[in-house]
Amino acid sequence: MSLLKRIGATIAAASLCVQGCAAQMVTQPYVDPVSGIVFNSTWVTGPGSDPESASVATYGFGMVLPPDAFIKDANEYIGLLRCAITNDTADASQGWCGLSHGVSGQMTQSLLLMAWPYNGSVYTSFRYTSGYNLPGVYTGNATLTQISSTINATQFELVYRCQGCFSWNQGGSAGSVSTTSKLFIMGRAAAKKGVHNPTCPDKVFFGFHDNGYGQYGAPLDNATHTSYPYWAAKATKTAATNCATLETPPPTTTATGTQPTDTSVPTTTAAAQCTPAPAKSYDYIVVGAGAAGIPIADKLSQAGKSVLLIEKGPPSSGRWNGTMKPAWLQGTNLTRFDVPGLCNEIWVDSTGIACTDTDQMAGCVLGGGTAVNAGLWWKPNPKDWDYNFPYGWKSSDLAGATKRVFDRIPGTWHPSMDGQLYRQEGFNVLQSGLNQSGWKQVIPNDSPNQKNRTFGHTTFMYSGGERGGPMATYLVTAYARKQFTLMTNTAVRRAIRVGGHVTGVELECLSSGYSGVVNVTANTGRVIFAAGTFGSAKLLLRSGIGPADQLQVIQSSADGSTFLPQNQWIDLPVGYNLMDHLNTDLIITHPDVVFYDFYAAWNTPPEGDKDAYLKNRTGILAQAAPNIGPMMWDEIKASDGIVRQLQWTSRVEGNDQVTPSKNAMTLSQYLGRGVVSRGRMTITNTLETQVFLHPYLHDDFDKEAVIQGIKNMQAALNVIPNLTWVLPPPGTTVENFVNNMIVSPSNRRANHWMGTAKLGYDDGRSGGSAVVDVNTKVYGTDNLFVVDASIFPGMPTGNPSGMIVIATEQASQRILNLSAPAAVGYGKQCGGKTWGGSYACEDPYVCTYVNISYSVCLSPDAT
Ligand SMILES: Cc1cc2nc3c(=O)[nH]c(=O)nc-3n(C[C@H](O)[C@H](O)[C@H](O)COP(=O)(O)OP(=O)(O)OC[C@H]3O[C@@H](n4cnc5c(N)ncnc54)[C@H](O)[C@@H]3O)c2cc1C
Ligand code: HEM
Repeated sequence: MSLLKRIGATIAAASLCVQGCAAQMVTQPYVDPVSGIVFNSTWVTGPGSDPESASVATYGFGMVLPPDAFIKDANEYIGLLRCAITNDTADASQGWCGLSHGVSGQMTQSLLLMAWPYNGSVYTSFRYTSGYNLPGVYTGNATLTQISSTINATQFELVYRCQGCFSWNQGGSAGSVSTTSKLFIMGRAAAKKGVHNPTCPDKVFFGFHDNGYGQYGAPLDNATHTSYPYWAAKATKTAATNCATLETPPPTTTATGTQPTDTSVPTTTAAAQCTPAPAKSYDYIVVGAGAAGIPIADKLSQAGKSVLLIEKGPPSSGRWNGTMKPAWLQGTNLTRFDVPGLCNEIWVDSTGIACTDTDQMAGCVLGGGTAVNAGLWWKPNPKDWDYNFPYGWKSSDLAGATKRVFDRIPGTWHPSMDGQLYRQEGFNVLQSGLNQSGWKQVIPNDSPNQKNRTFGHTTFMYSGGERGGPMATYLVTAYARKQFTLMTNTAVRRAIRVGGHVTGVELECLSSGYSGVVNVTANTGRVIFAAGTFGSAKLLLRSGIGPADQLQVIQSSADGSTFLPQNQWIDLPVGYNLMDHLNTDLIITHPDVVFYDFYAAWNTPPEGDKDAYLKNRTGILAQAAPNIGPMMWDEIKASDGIVRQLQWTSRVEGNDQVTPSKNAMTLSQYLGRGVVSRGRMTITNTLETQVFLHPYLHDDFDKEAVIQGIKNMQAALNVIPNLTWVLPPPGTTVENFVNNMIVSPSNRRANHWMGTAKLGYDDGRSGGSAVVDVNTKVYGTDNLFVVDASIFPGMPTGNPSGMIVIATEQASQRILNLSAPAAVGYGKQCGGKTWGGSYACEDPYVCTYVNISYSVCLSPDAT
């Protein structure tokens, strides 16, 4: 049931994508000369895509389906996969390419097929990954048998039969696509570097797809064929494997920092070995050391409380003994996370950094999102509080918290230590048009309320030419206190809860950290989940708090045997209210725009830039990749009367799927405050979180605002001489452009996920929408809190980390001001569906469930 809903949502969106996708993919019929198979439907990367292989399309795919595939869902097809061979490396195996069978062509949580040529044969491997990490071997039932393969100097081609390929199941994590829908959204990926161990498909290891990737709509109308059974019978071959001598994957850069130039290797998976956690209790246990977890741990320890901060990931910044870095940073105290110009590497090599238990990109390292993000740092538009948040959380209430945060992390719009801005050609081009069109230039954090027809330089949380942010401020002061303890590489499984009272957390041994149980101080101790929008929601669910359908999923998972009994479940709308900025990209080119290759700077930054950065923290590497700015803001009042806030983030970077130009800029429109559309996050029975319903464009007036915003931007920039629009393509109306674009997280996300544990007065246990009250305390508990992006009721104007830290400052005060409910005595009420009092019983009594509305303190032997 849940699966069908997910597919339904995707297909509804996908049915709009067909023409838009055609702009990037050429569709053409093809008869395979070797097998004679007629592929009436093929999709080939189009002109402008992947320019470095311009003479040969980097990717081509064709599909034939069984004749009855539109009447009943087929689970097999005949495929044609054709990919360019790249001879630009010393690799004998000349690149790889692959495809995603997923519902929205996504890489995560879907069946992947990869192929590569070697010594006259084409080898294949089915792969699967739950997060944006190196995909492992698929363990389900897909089978590939070859019909024919050809390899020449420029490309390789495989015609194959793929059985069990439209539904997949990786250890219980299942998905499928439906041929009766007559439309697929496919994903493609290609890499220039080859695989290691090419003749042993289960043991190959490989790097990022650096030769193009993306999604396209694949209408299946012509894909069935009556000759299917005849052609399928030709599938008899397999490539001869040889696993005799194997290369051992060296430890990854991310694990040790010793292989700085090779990003093509997976983390060696040693068996997890944890140390039992010290038998000590804490006033506060904070779970997750990200944008919220670090500041709140600091504030609570500053108040004299003993605080344990538990982070699942490894250290990131050099300041905290992080080690992941390219060669040119060896011998320095800097890691990839510290250098602003390397921040985009997260989109190239995310293995060992991205969370592995969610289908979206999230940083599972010390610092969380603030370690991997681009550092954009905004003093909030007061309307973001006033419109989205309830009484007690208005901008006037948050003024003190805002000041405290910006006193510690002021941010800067000129991060290079010489105060200069580098490679400003792109900024200058857009600025000229915006000025002429009457948009006003502002210093954004000096005028946070000026967000209508304004623009300015980007502001970052950077300091001293390095990343800075919470890890360089709040964590430093917290760490200096004896009552503060930090555990890294240590994952929390769940809160240990008796009725509405939490006694501690149970750890889960995933790598090398601690295991066992850690308690909070008896009666007065508290647990705070700060594990992010997906992480905190997952922890709540595993702690028996959430909608019944999700708790049933947990019950059927590996957690089942130790999961709380149903009469202990707290019914709250965890996972609903999922939000993200809808991202709609426009692309322009202008001859004056100059591209700086931040990607190449990972291995080989220009000497002058490297020296300037290493010696003085000056130059372009002190600025965020990929040269971000200008930022622009616009407000649109849609026909429903709601004003929607738009933020535009420009960057000097095109998209090789649509233009080969090196003078391109991408203008990303974020739909912010006022957005009505919401999605839902759910969990699988393999305990991975997923965007079950994306939060984009379910509301017609949201779409109206997006369209109007694009028209406004076109009007503002059309005055610039020699500016060319790539997206929307010339001759396409904005309406058609927007309507034809795929709507899926993979191509429309902004990575600003929020809202799964909404803050509010309307108690979710009684039909309301809130999971936490205005003190950030989880309804139905007296000492469990959530403080992070998940509590946001609505979307803010822009990148949210500044607001998350402010909300955290505010929450810390509210939590500290909240006196712990006294434990109650024998015979007193200690729980019930809408109970709001103390859930703790005096010693030796135990809170005992009587019925859904009533629990009572009784002697232990009475329970
Ligand atoms: C690639 C990317 C770029 C971004 N760019 C920007 C930007 O430029 N500016 C901006 O303002 N925002 C940006 N964002 C968004 C911003 O970083 C996030 O909104 C913010 O970090 C969320 O804060 P959080 O505290 O809710 O969660 P996070 O910062 O994600 O922190 C959660 C932490 O909890 C840990 N954790 C999770 N589960 C457990 C567990 N079970 N046990 C122990 N620890 C756990 C995680 O490892 C993580 O460290 C970006 C996000 C991404 C992914
Ligand atoms: C080392 C291995 C890999 C890594 C680290 C990796 C990482 C990533 C990342 C970070 C993205 C998101 C990029 C963005 O949004 O800008 C992505 C997208 C994608 N990847 Fe991979 N990938 C790997 C291997 C593969 C393989 C083997 C396939 C298919 C056979 C694949 C298919 C895709 C597709 C289709 C997309 C676009 C859709 C989406 O974002 O989900 N990837 N990959």
